[in-house]
Amino acid sequence: MKKRVLVTYQMFKEGYKLLMEKFEVTFPPEGRETFTYDEVYEMLPQYDVLQSMFNFPVDRKLMERGLPRLELVSNYAVGFDNIDIPSALELGITVTNTPGPVTEPTAELAFGLMIAVARRIADVDHRLRVPGALKWGLLENLGYSMCGKTLGIIGMGRIGQALARRAKANCMNVIYHNRNRVDPEIEQEYGARYVSFEELLKDADFVSVNVPYSKATYHMISTGQIALMKPTAILINTARGPIVDELALAQALKEHRIYGAGLDVFEFGDMVSQELLELDNVVLTPHLGTQTFDVRNEMAAFVSRNIINFYEGGPVSRVTRQ
Ligand code: GLV
Repeated sequence: MKKRVLVTYQMFKEGYKLLMEKFEVTFPPEGRETFTYDEVYEMLPQYDVLQSMFNFPVDRKLMERGLPRLELVSNYAVGFDNIDIPSALELGITVTNTPGPVTEPTAELAFGLMIAVARRIADVDHRLRVPGALKWGLLENLGYSMCGKTLGIIGMGRIGQALARRAKANCMNVIYHNRNRVDPEIEQEYGARYVSFEELLKDADFVSVNVPYSKATYHMISTGQIALMKPTAILINTARGPIVDELALAQALKEHRIYGAGLDVFEFGDMVSQELLELDNVVLTPHLGTQTFDVRNEMAAFVSRNIINFYEGGPVSRVTRQ
């Protein structure tokens, strides 16, 4: 009998082809975007695998409900803060994620936000469309150059390194802070210098947040950290919203204590704070990090490989701690 996989979200099927040949796969019915938590709770005891999306909460109650049949929670994301990992490990349920295909598009978006904020692309685009809202002139709409400036990367994992590569190509200096210092060869490749968290905040012209979200990184950037940043600094967050204290950031932006910010993720999910919406020195995108036609299918193929290899043997991107 084929193993059964429950997918919480409606997705392009192309990336799931192989999985659908080998497993019995249930997606939300056509016309529905997602299963609700309650629906998944009802259905889960009939499934061997839960294929969750990064915004679907997989808590202990849900996983216990899936037992004894549930063997694998396969997350469609590199981040897994939506899953209670200690409980999964305790209950003997394997958890996997999809680091590979997420790296380049997320770094690409982070770099795009850096340019958009520094060169005011979104701001002038908005105003150009409104009669009289934009003034043309050589000393109008000034932004900051990026070449020669310093990018501070908080979290020098795959995405941080992919961003460092882009910064180096744009003749920027790179400093980084990470739980552990990365290999000297990696530092050398990107010309990246390891510094303390405080030093990074003080010296960087651009600060990019690229750490996973956990209790330890909650509000890692708040009023005190923003106070250390240059008044010309730009903050970029493409990781998870609650790592940055959103209201503290909005206040700092309003008072021009830093120059600007580019945010792809928000503290309160898709409820972007009104305080941010009112500002023109922040560029806001709706969690677009991996939102490309290509990457949607690449992530589906990666998630499928994790599931297939879990049962057939082969490499699996296993999560072993929160
Ligand atoms: C996206 O946010 C991911 O974690 O893959």
